[in-house]
Amino acid sequence: MDGGQRYTSKPDTVDVAGSTSIVFSLKDNFSALGHALEVFQRHNVKLLHIESRPSKTETEDNEFFVSCDHQNGGLRDAIDELRTICKTLTIQKTEQWFPRRIEELDRFANKVLSAGAELQADHPGFSDEVYKARRKEIAQIAIDYKHGQEIPRVQYREDEINTWRTVFRELTKLYPTNACREFNQSFPLLIQTCGYREDNIPQLEDISKFLKNRTGFRLRPVAGLLSPRDFLAGLAFRVFHSTQYIRHPSRPMYTPEPDVCHELLGHVPLFADQAFAQFSQELGLASLGAPDEYIDKLSTCYWFTVEFGLCRQGGQIKAYGAGLLSSFGELKYCLTDKPELRPFEPLQTAEQKYPITEFQPVYYVAESFESSQAQMRAFAATIPRPFTVHYNPYTDSVEVITEKEQVIGLLRTIKGDLDLAEQALKMIQ
Ligand SMILES: [Fe+2]
Repeated sequence: MDGGQRYTSKPDTVDVAGSTSIVFSLKDNFSALGHALEVFQRHNVKLLHIESRPSKTETEDNEFFVSCDHQNGGLRDAIDELRTICKTLTIQKTEQWFPRRIEELDRFANKVLSAGAELQADHPGFSDEVYKARRKEIAQIAIDYKHGQEIPRVQYREDEINTWRTVFRELTKLYPTNACREFNQSFPLLIQTCGYREDNIPQLEDISKFLKNRTGFRLRPVAGLLSPRDFLAGLAFRVFHSTQYIRHPSRPMYTPEPDVCHELLGHVPLFADQAFAQFSQELGLASLGAPDEYIDKLSTCYWFTVEFGLCRQGGQIKAYGAGLLSSFGELKYCLTDKPELRPFEPLQTAEQKYPITEFQPVYYVAESFESSQAQMRAFAATIPRPFTVHYNPYTDSVEVITEKEQVIGLLRTIKGDLDLAEQALKMIQ
């Protein structure tokens, strides 16, 4: 494996939720209520609603019901402290928060699962303090970044450019034969406009501008791995979270985590393709507000498509997954007769187990990005959530459709587009 998006922990329902309701009774009944409220305040947990009511148990106690908005607070710590003064405490209901506007992706900046200094033992830079400091310095750009800003440029050092050169030189030998058509159409454009060369590591800002003009996708720097839920939410807004630091120079052909080689060589060319961009956004939209078990399923679909997908083109199998397109070894291996190939079918693919530290034994083959998009949309309809979502590209926001009036508004827009298409077709004929 070479830098595929690796998911190592499940999202915590308390931490990701937007509002949580707690019911508790106090050891000291009413006199301790002030202390309880101080606990929330101390941990910056905003209370949306509070009421007292008779306990449903056989005791004389009162229960307190509080609804908290804790997007910026530490609810988990508050609950732990609260338990010390409570007789009973239950977390009654959790509603999944998800970003509705593109600028709300700023909230993910500090929620990476690995933050630079804490590399895992299998990382080639694990005991290299100079490398870790440099990685942290670059990751800080992402932590400080806010939506709408230019992405600061990194002055890459000679040793970093050498690493990039090795990877670039080897992979570009395989692309003409092993990469899919869409990849090979985009790659020359990136060479022309974004400084893709073996002696230059392209800058995220230049690529982001290029993608925005092509498909509306944009890059956003990220300091490490996001949770699957947050990462997928970015795709809903056509935002791809991209690392900016580079792998350790001791092993240029290997990285256990995404790095700038994986993102820029593996992912970026496909995001310049309209059908692939739509497919990726579809995955993201399906994830918004989805229950945790469905986030796991969508992450698995992401793994077998965006990271390790194969597709059929002109009677041949080609690679389109970024984990393949950024790994010299696996890009060759995936097209041999060693791995098992199965047709992409979200219901089955979502259940497939996979290794993260070795070549994949099974790949899923897409007939086309358009058909995969339709399949993902059908799969999304099976996700239990009491609403549908629609992306409004004019306001870069997600509209949650729950009312009939909203559906009518949506139909009006679609009718306008259909009229336009009909008119255009008449003029062309
Ligand atoms: Fe990736």
